[in-house]
Amino acid sequence: MIQIAVLGYGTVGSGVVEVIDTNHASINKKAGEEINIKYVLDLRDFPGDKIQEKIVHDFNIILEDPEIKIVVEVMGGVEPAYTFTKRALLAGKSVCTSNKELVARHGAELLEIARERNLNYLFEASCGGGIPIIRPLNSSLTADEIDEITGILNGTTNYILTKMTEEGSSFEEVLKDAQEKGYAERNPEADVEGHDACRKIAILSSLALGRQVDYEDIYTEGITKITADDIKYAKEMGKTIKLLAFSRKVDDSFYAMVAPCLIGPTDPLYSVNGVFNAIFVHGNVLGDAMFYGSGAGKLPTASAVVSDVVDCAKHLHRSIMSFWSSHKLELTDISNSRRRFFVRVKGDPAADLARVRELFGDVEVVTVPGLDGEFGFKTGTISEAEYKEKAAELGTVINMIRMRRVKAGR
Ligand code: HSE
Repeated sequence: MIQIAVLGYGTVGSGVVEVIDTNHASINKKAGEEINIKYVLDLRDFPGDKIQEKIVHDFNIILEDPEIKIVVEVMGGVEPAYTFTKRALLAGKSVCTSNKELVARHGAELLEIARERNLNYLFEASCGGGIPIIRPLNSSLTADEIDEITGILNGTTNYILTKMTEEGSSFEEVLKDAQEKGYAERNPEADVEGHDACRKIAILSSLALGRQVDYEDIYTEGITKITADDIKYAKEMGKTIKLLAFSRKVDDSFYAMVAPCLIGPTDPLYSVNGVFNAIFVHGNVLGDAMFYGSGAGKLPTASAVVSDVVDCAKHLHRSIMSFWSSHKLELTDISNSRRRFFVRVKGDPAADLARVRELFGDVEVVTVPGLDGEFGFKTGTISEAEYKEKAAELGTVINMIRMRRVKAGR
């Protein structure tokens, strides 16, 4: 029997208990041994809950119990999760986590500690909820040089944008609904301002590129400035708005960004709706691959955590994760990255288009019936720096949304 401890009995922690209970027989068969939850660490008590007798309030009980071989850290946040994880690894216990903040910040160090001790630090649930993406990057796509990762990596914002598009509901109404369904973070700012997606693309990029990508270096915009009128323009153009997180190779360097983007129906990410996530990966020999599935929520996330527990149980004395060097990968500034931009401006095409064309060249005009005193236009392919300069010179921009660039033939 393999004894495990779960740190945190919140949404994901209770999901882990539920998944192990529900699929007990098949999980044990796949792990090759019975997996038993011996302790659940939480500050609270849960009278009447089946795990109450397993509740401990002191992490040292877990640390000092030699029977515990695997620790499941689903507390969230950097501390005390970081200290607990480090101490567990130093005490010879493998750790599985859903904690993207911790993996993005200290993943390189924790992987190194695990590797030195022939243990595992696994974090499938940290990106894309229940979608297998860490494992494929770690063990399937190893023949490739990855030159692009683009993902819809946040279920809450995808759910909000989908509902706003389908039902015309307000941002606030949909956010409340997402929180009630357990998708959103306790502090919704992490979701709606793009920070959650930013940490996830930092983790995926670090793993794919083998070097630390600092999330603080990633240009990040959320969805709080997306309005019902933007969505009307998107529909007029036959497109949809998605919060994309991407890292891309340009010449010999990489840049990364999180921003709402307009995508069209031929884009494989177009139909990824609701709480679903998808991750599009391009490798130099593979070409394209896409991973799609339930990106947030209690059971999908817990499913990914428990899959890591099974992997740890199968490899108790062998480190199976690639690691990434803590030596930082310097991302290139986004200002030279090139794409088309959709821009909404104050004014009237008859009177103001000439000035727009003077600055931006031959743009395509977009108008929405009923939206007066403004119009939209699509630029040609220009750099971020050029856009910024011309938009400042124009001085009448209401909003700008980037258009996703899909290379020809892809
Ligand atoms: N709040 C996150 C999301 C949870 O909405 O995607 C899963 O990481």
